[in-house]
Amino acid sequence: MRWSGVVLHDNAYFPRKKITVVGSGNVGATAAFLAAYKELGDIVLLDVMEGVPQGKALDMYEASPILGYDVNVKGTQDYADTANSDLVIITAGLARKPGMSRDDLLATNVKIVADVTAKIVEHSPDCIIIVVTNPLDAMVYTAKQVSGFNRKRVIGMAGVLDSARMRSFIAQKLDVSIADVSALVLGGHGDTMVPLARYSTVGGVPLTEMLSDEDIDKISERTAQGGAEIVQLLKTGSAFYAPGAAIVEMAEAILKDQNRILPCAAWLEGEYGIENYYMGVPCKLGGGGMEGVIELDLTKKEKAAMQASLDAVKVSKKQVDALGVF
Ligand code: 2OP
Repeated sequence: MRWSGVVLHDNAYFPRKKITVVGSGNVGATAAFLAAYKELGDIVLLDVMEGVPQGKALDMYEASPILGYDVNVKGTQDYADTANSDLVIITAGLARKPGMSRDDLLATNVKIVADVTAKIVEHSPDCIIIVVTNPLDAMVYTAKQVSGFNRKRVIGMAGVLDSARMRSFIAQKLDVSIADVSALVLGGHGDTMVPLARYSTVGGVPLTEMLSDEDIDKISERTAQGGAEIVQLLKTGSAFYAPGAAIVEMAEAILKDQNRILPCAAWLEGEYGIENYYMGVPCKLGGGGMEGVIELDLTKKEKAAMQASLDAVKVSKKQVDALGVF
């Protein structure tokens, strides 16, 4: 048979979304797979490692007849393939190796993220960027500076992951469904993150009425060490299932213009008394990206915890600036 007069893929009126994931390691590949599975759009998986993104992308595409998702997944080394992406997720960078300090990691990954951001912006000047590479607070700052984008379009992934970990630990402790547990973690993505029990609930009941202070402290501590706990178990790598899921929750909120309220690393312009730093705060995520920051009333103790977290973020921003990469 022959097609006649049928436009096979006319996307002029309802263009399919295009998502680029930079970095085809465990985090990038998991995010790409989940985004494909949820049919958020066509996916481009880019990595400098020849063959790896191509192989993983082909593998994902070959899973689509079984799982039933209907999107393109393409692996590449060429930034031209990322052109006109709606959303770009940056996971590229080195993971910390034995003997490598946090500062070594920061210096190496600033160069990688700066390079990636410049190339992405060249091909997708209108995209929204979600940064995932660690150390997160320094990397999302780097991407913002290099892109020159406003704060709506450069957002860091941390709070969704940290809050998911806290939710998991609360559900486990109380032996209740995860569906009824909400939790909120603010601040930077590091040891100084700020789990907020007062704004966490179980079936709408404040957590502070469900658990003792001691239990809450234990859960908060485990949440702050959540990434390290996985590294300790895996020994040769860090978490990727929960980070991948967290990325995709943010991606879906943006691509489907959901106006979700999610904790993200946002560039603050006076909110919480903080100016010109990325901090984890509750944000409205929709089609425009980071569409607004919700300012919570914090207690003295919570404010002090935010301040300590900000101090850590300030140190990493200074380190980035001192490298003189941009
Ligand atoms: C995590 O929290 C390493 O930041 C990564 O799992």
